[in-house]
Amino acid sequence: MTDAEPEGLSQEDYATLCGFLRDRTGLSFTEAKRYFVDRRVAARMQAVGATGLRAYMNLLRFQASGEELQRLVNLMTVNETYFFREKYQLDCLVNSVLDELVRGRPKGSRLRIWSAGCATGEEPYSIAIMLLENWRRVDDYEIELLASDIDSAVLERAREGIYDERALQGLPAHLRAKYFQPVRGAAEAGGPRWQIVEDLRESVDFSLVNIADPQQVRAFRGIDVIFCRNLLIYFDDLGRREAASMFHDALAPGGFVCLGHSESMSRMSSLFVPRRFPDAILYQKPVDGGTS
Ligand SMILES: C[S@@+](CC[C@H](N)C(=O)[O-])C[C@H]1O[C@@H](n2cnc3c(N)ncnc32)[C@H](O)[C@@H]1O
Repeated sequence: MTDAEPEGLSQEDYATLCGFLRDRTGLSFTEAKRYFVDRRVAARMQAVGATGLRAYMNLLRFQASGEELQRLVNLMTVNETYFFREKYQLDCLVNSVLDELVRGRPKGSRLRIWSAGCATGEEPYSIAIMLLENWRRVDDYEIELLASDIDSAVLERAREGIYDERALQGLPAHLRAKYFQPVRGAAEAGGPRWQIVEDLRESVDFSLVNIADPQQVRAFRGIDVIFCRNLLIYFDDLGRREAASMFHDALAPGGFVCLGHSESMSRMSSLFVPRRFPDAILYQKPVDGGTS
């Protein structure tokens, strides 16, 4: 280590900071993440000229705008995602779940789908494309696509809807041609990029929401399907249980939760009933809204 490089946090400071972040965001950083955390915190402390962790924590805790906390949170999230990720769940949505949800509902009624932890937007836009392409009743219902994340920087990118080759890899060529436009001049400036068409950008309602904050989640009620994939792996057991209970409150009776392939609701909560469809297993809030 050179003189210019700040030393990492002490054991105690690391525990204090991680406890604070866990409390505010649900994100759980173990000792194994120390290098990742140390580097980011050191960079922010240097940027704001904090002389030690105590001064920096005071800024995080008491700054009226919350700007520094948001900046740090943006650095602490892992935003990996891409179009048509874990597509079998999207297939399940259009082949089974939506038909079941609208059974008995009059045409024109509302269907609400929420992508919680949407990162740069590939997930909600993939849902939109799947609905338009594969659900024959898409025009019969008023579909609301809500998408949220705790990271304000990824939300900006999601709203802009510009993607590189890597993000689009899983998308068949005819869908790329139909829903994306090449960004002019992008090839010269670091590789080709495509922007999702305006109609799709406008079809998703993006907002800044921390799913570990009950106040912020309160606005989400009567949801039919929640996608919360590859987010709860960053939470601890208690955080996952709290998230499951929050999903339960947010869902309409009979509504579904889709988790990432390595996340299992049965290990988090008994509030939901696993439902095995031909394409995937989803978790359902009992129709009677019960807690069985
Ligand atoms: C790995 S990405 C997953 C993106 C997408 N759901 C997928 O499966 O491809 C996880 C996202 O969860 C977000 N996240 C982490 N903690 C969160 C919280 N407490 N509330 C809302 N979003 C959170 C991160 O900012 C990140 O964008």
